[in-house]
Amino acid sequence: MKRRTVMAGAGAALLAAAGGALLWRPGDRGAPHDAYFSALNDLLKREGPGRPVLLIDRARMNHNIDLLAGSVGPERTYRVVVKSLPSVELLAHVMDRAGTRALMVFHQPFLNQIAESFPDSDVLMGKPVPVRAARVFYDRLAEAETGFAPEAQLQWLIDTPARLEEYHELARNLGRHLRINVEIDVGLHRGGIEDGDVLDRMLSVIAGDPKHLSFAGLMGYEPHLTGLGAGLEHPAVQDVLGRYQAFVDQAVAAGYDPASLTLNGAGSHTLGIYANDRTMNDLSAGSGVVKPTDFDTHHLMNHQPAAFIAAPVLKTYDRLYVAGEPFVAGVMEKWDPNTRRLHYIYGGYWKARYVSPTGIPEPIYHSTNQEPFTTSPGGALSVGDYAFLRPTQSERVLLQFGDLHVVEDGRIVDRWSVFQDQG
Ligand SMILES: Cc1ncc(COP(=O)(O)O)c(C=O)c1O
Repeated sequence: MKRRTVMAGAGAALLAAAGGALLWRPGDRGAPHDAYFSALNDLLKREGPGRPVLLIDRARMNHNIDLLAGSVGPERTYRVVVKSLPSVELLAHVMDRAGTRALMVFHQPFLNQIAESFPDSDVLMGKPVPVRAARVFYDRLAEAETGFAPEAQLQWLIDTPARLEEYHELARNLGRHLRINVEIDVGLHRGGIEDGDVLDRMLSVIAGDPKHLSFAGLMGYEPHLTGLGAGLEHPAVQDVLGRYQAFVDQAVAAGYDPASLTLNGAGSHTLGIYANDRTMNDLSAGSGVVKPTDFDTHHLMNHQPAAFIAAPVLKTYDRLYVAGEPFVAGVMEKWDPNTRRLHYIYGGYWKARYVSPTGIPEPIYHSTNQEPFTTSPGGALSVGDYAFLRPTQSERVLLQFGDLHVVEDGRIVDRWSVFQDQG
């Protein structure tokens, strides 16, 4: 091959690579707050606390509650997941609007707060907690004298015969009656009993001491069905329901009436699958009420995001002004127009994604104190404006901002306190 031909080939390859890189180069994705976030920004600048705050949009939340309650329907129980909505006033709002008193609890300190705040509630534990935590619950409950009657209103979740023994011993020691709900594995493989013999053994232990124990139902959680776009006929759904029904049949064979049992399952992601199925009579959901980003999934398509973190902008630069070699920042700015304005917010590094202004790339570094983010000139904010993020999950994140600020019709209409995480 002639030298000139080789050179021409190499030149063409270089040009193609440069062209490819240009195609791959980020476009300008920056845009200012839309009307919705502009109104929230104006509201917070007028009336906000001047620190990061968690907003709940009441109208959107109500829309979501109505969808969940409608999907569960009047013949079944809608059970509200407390860890995903950890505020007494928030739970009270959801329970009143959905017309339910049923709650699912995962944390001993929350359980005591629920017993105090909702003495008429019906509580199912969502995970099998160490028997010591159950003991602490009863010790604290006695102190508080709330009117909540655990022997009628609380079901402990038990996943193994060994844990059943521990709880049985606790019941005898305390002279109390414990209602037992058995965790079943319907395909998730996150614990729970897998075969019928084990259920039989557990049911006979329970039946052997009716003074201290009673069988209250089953709990089979199945988030592995998330996002399949699955209807009832999907084989994975049929597998879950088949496993569930086999345990129900066994309880029936042991003399229990399924209508008197709590047959719990589902979560926000999957509840919509069961609109026309009656294997379970008790369906849980929490996160779908506020729809964090992890819940942008198939069965929640019609839900609206209703929880936002709003963080004040403390500082801005009209270029990517960072420590180190200015040349690097210069190249970066030229390459990605979404890095041409630099902002620092109050706080940061939450489990959350920026939602407004749009087009914010991954932060150049994370900080819980003052986190930087960049925009293109089109999405730039001024000092005193608020940036908005959507939590990726509501669990824990809702606990990080003090009172939840409830907004409706351009006003802050309520402030709802959140649970004490420990205590
Ligand atoms: C046992 C159980 N049920 C239901 C849920 C659903 O909660 P959410 O609707 O907030 O996803 C969970 C979530 O972790 C769970 O562990």
